[in-house]
Amino acid sequence: TMWRALAAYTWCIYLAVRPVGSLEWSSVPASGTLPSARRDMAVGYFQTQNKLVVFGGKGGPITNDTWVFDFVAGSWTDVSGATGPGARFSMVYGVVGNHLYVTTGEGPGKIFYNDVWQFDVTSNTWFQVSTTGTPPSTRYGAAGGVYPGSTLLYVSLGFAGERFFDTFVLDTSSNQWSTRFCEGNCHPYAPTYPHARCLHSGSVVDADRLVIYGGCLSGGETGGPCPSGDSWIFRNSEQEWTRLPDCASPRTYSSMALLPEVNGQKRIVLYGGIEKNRQVIQTTASPADTVVVLDPDSMTWTTRITTASGSFPAKRASAAMALSSSGLYLFGGIDTETNALQNDIWFLAGNSTSADQAAAGECVPIFTNFLLVHGLLMFFGWGVCLVWGTFIARYFSSSGTTWFLLHRIFQVSGLVLSFIGFVLGIVSVQFDHFKFAHGAIGIIVMLLGISQPFNALARPHRPSEGEKTPLKRRIWELFHHNIGRVAVALALINISLGVFLALAHTAVWALWFVYLIVVILVFVFFELLKIPVVHEKMAAILPMKTKEYPVSNEQKMENVAKTDDSQQGEK
Ligand code: HEM
Ligand SMILES: *[C@@H]1O[C@H](CO)[C@@H](O)[C@H](O)[C@H]1NC(C)=O
Ligand SMILES: *[C@@H]1O[C@H](CO)[C@@H](O)[C@H](O)[C@H]1NC(C)=O
Repeated sequence: TMWRALAAYTWCIYLAVRPVGSLEWSSVPASGTLPSARRDMAVGYFQTQNKLVVFGGKGGPITNDTWVFDFVAGSWTDVSGATGPGARFSMVYGVVGNHLYVTTGEGPGKIFYNDVWQFDVTSNTWFQVSTTGTPPSTRYGAAGGVYPGSTLLYVSLGFAGERFFDTFVLDTSSNQWSTRFCEGNCHPYAPTYPHARCLHSGSVVDADRLVIYGGCLSGGETGGPCPSGDSWIFRNSEQEWTRLPDCASPRTYSSMALLPEVNGQKRIVLYGGIEKNRQVIQTTASPADTVVVLDPDSMTWTTRITTASGSFPAKRASAAMALSSSGLYLFGGIDTETNALQNDIWFLAGNSTSADQAAAGECVPIFTNFLLVHGLLMFFGWGVCLVWGTFIARYFSSSGTTWFLLHRIFQVSGLVLSFIGFVLGIVSVQFDHFKFAHGAIGIIVMLLGISQPFNALARPHRPSEGEKTPLKRRIWELFHHNIGRVAVALALINISLGVFLALAHTAVWALWFVYLIVVILVFVFFELLKIPVVHEKMAAILPMKTKEYPVSNEQKMENVAKTDDSQQGEK
């Protein structure tokens, strides 16, 4: 009986861990001439015709050829005609009825588009759509799409010299554009909507919702993580964004698509992408056999382990995915191990139910980038060392010598930490340095901070006993004290901006602001103590020495000189 119990137990464990239900990859064989291998193309799957349409993309040169794959014949046909959209890659696309819509994208010579084209799969012809309303400004690297059965084509964020915050909808039944979020009044320090970005992936959830994942936020005049791992849902009717919890590794160039719905359940697959660049120190690269699945209604992400009949598709970025009735088609992209461009078709069989039954993997990946180190060094450097070093100098310099030693230790370590942090901050910005408020204030703060030890070295000697403070010394004090104050105040402002720029979680910036309020209260309290009346009143309730208050700066310096003759450094 013991063996039986053990066998039953083992069986239970097996049932619990074996992959039930599934998301299963299989390769789709294609005969005849294939489209050239490419990435960042547009694709559309047409269920009625059982055809996959591929347009444009980058395959070495940027292309504008159009290909149709017939799943019954198992072969590709080049259907490029006399007219069609200009060559481009990284565009927004979606299927409405028998049409594949294409808009935005980047063409040869850094030309950006916002024109709208539709490809008719029944006649294999392109037609340029004339639209009304304000279109998105020309851009590439935006995300969007169309929910099956809906007429709304979403276009969200993207890049063209600067990164965009805005979201648009084209109603293909009236060909009218409307701006649905942020008409030019968004900024990078808001926690309630996504920071401007490009090369994020996106998928429609239903006619009213769009979800986006990750992308590149650094450079383009806004700064931020690149790659990023944040994800957001846009609700068109509310014109409102909601941030989702983090789960997958941060990435750019990933692909996203909605799985077939069972009982109206929505699941979105996130696949592939580029997980490493010079901003990344350490990341948990996602294995080739995993996808990440979002339940947009409960707002939960889970990693799912896929199975394969045969091999798995080579791990890739910049691939395109399209919904079919029984799973997803995947086309092309760039192999992230070998950098080889692809032109293969894969099928991921599954739906919302089978995705939930697939074996679940770990969520929280290990991820460290230079921004995290930058933020920590700046917090300890400016937010701790330099703030409290300044505090000591301002309120405790009237007695003893310890203050001066502590002041020097705090200021020197603060400057060393923040200088390393400064270099890391600059290194991590991809391009367009000091073009956002945090970066510009940052360089001012650092210049002021670094000037302090140098002007301290050149300080005029303090007067000996009985003498008047010379003008030179007073001018120096004026400079040293005020530069210090301005630098610390700007640094505190800049840390406050930084926590939003880095997309820190609510708990992190809430903690920072609690700490900041404590710092301000302590300074205000000690400042009030310098007022004689207040000091006397406080002395009555608190056990305090009264003799040193109030004192002028000159008196303070004299006190120090009197109490310590050996202290050459401060002379
Ligand atoms: C007084 C403290 C700080 C100073 C002086 C400072 C300074 C800087 C500087 C000079 C840059 C580079 C600007 C450029 O090259 O364009 C930068 C970038 C940045 N900093 Fe700070 N910083 C401070 C604190 C923080 C904190 C606490 C965080 C929070 C994590 C933070 C997050 C960032 C981010 C996200 C970037 C943009 C990086 C990119 O776009 O690649 N900073 N900072
Ligand atoms: C391809 O794009 C070029 C410009 O980029 C354009 O002149 C040409 O007409 C396009 N060809 C097709 C077939 O659309
Ligand atoms: C869901 O997908 C699984 C795996 O592909 C399949 O066996 C099942 O029949 C599908 N269910 C529905 C309702 O389509």
